[in-house]
Amino acid sequence: MRRTLVVGNWKMNGSKEANADLVAGIVSEAGNVANADMAICAPFVYLSDVANAVNDTNISVGSQDVSVHLEGAYTGEISASMLLDCSCKYAIIGHSERRQYHGESNLLVAQKALTAYKSGLIPIICLGESLEERESGQVEVIIGEQLQAVQSVMGADAIAKSVIAYEPVWAIGTGLTATPEQAQDVHGFIRSRLGTDAEKVSILYGGSVKSANAAELFAQKDIDGALVGGASLNAQEFIGIAAAG
Ligand code: 13P
Repeated sequence: MRRTLVVGNWKMNGSKEANADLVAGIVSEAGNVANADMAICAPFVYLSDVANAVNDTNISVGSQDVSVHLEGAYTGEISASMLLDCSCKYAIIGHSERRQYHGESNLLVAQKALTAYKSGLIPIICLGESLEERESGQVEVIIGEQLQAVQSVMGADAIAKSVIAYEPVWAIGTGLTATPEQAQDVHGFIRSRLGTDAEKVSILYGGSVKSANAAELFAQKDIDGALVGGASLNAQEFIGIAAAG
């Protein structure tokens, strides 16, 4: 049985002071969340602070990216072992904002996911189509290509221990959520491509998830949780989403 997982992606938001308030708010309400695991993916520089603040709770910590390299002369990069050193359990890989603004290809995303997995992190591998791709009937082609790249580089065993997030680009930060049926269609498609381990893999939905729409999304058979952007910056909203798990 897959347990609901609700992951907050803070993106490039926050400050020491604001984070302390936000995490304190989440921690104080975490006891109301019975049926979901939670994680917070904070900017690199705040990971240790957040990890200390959620110590001894049911909330884990993750990063928003990882270097494909293990160590060495890669100025500005952060390695998987550094993330583990800062108590990370998860690493978001291949978010559409990294694909779009940092030119991350399907191959690089797959290689990063493998590096994270081999180092002991749980990759949260993001897939998603643009509005143009959806409107031209390309959803399964695009998602299929993104997933295939990950499958060829990682192999089935590693994917079975990873998390996949379906985040339609047109639903991110726009207030336009995919309908539960639209999301379920793609989640079902992704699961159909995962082979014998398909039932083990958690597939999260991301894109304008809020406490008001979480329950109907989670009611879908192949939606196992959420990757939450904007609403994860509000403790009550984030807890409200996790409580719908
Ligand atoms: P929003 O929840 O703000 O739409 O962002 C979704 C997202 O990109 C999470 O990774």
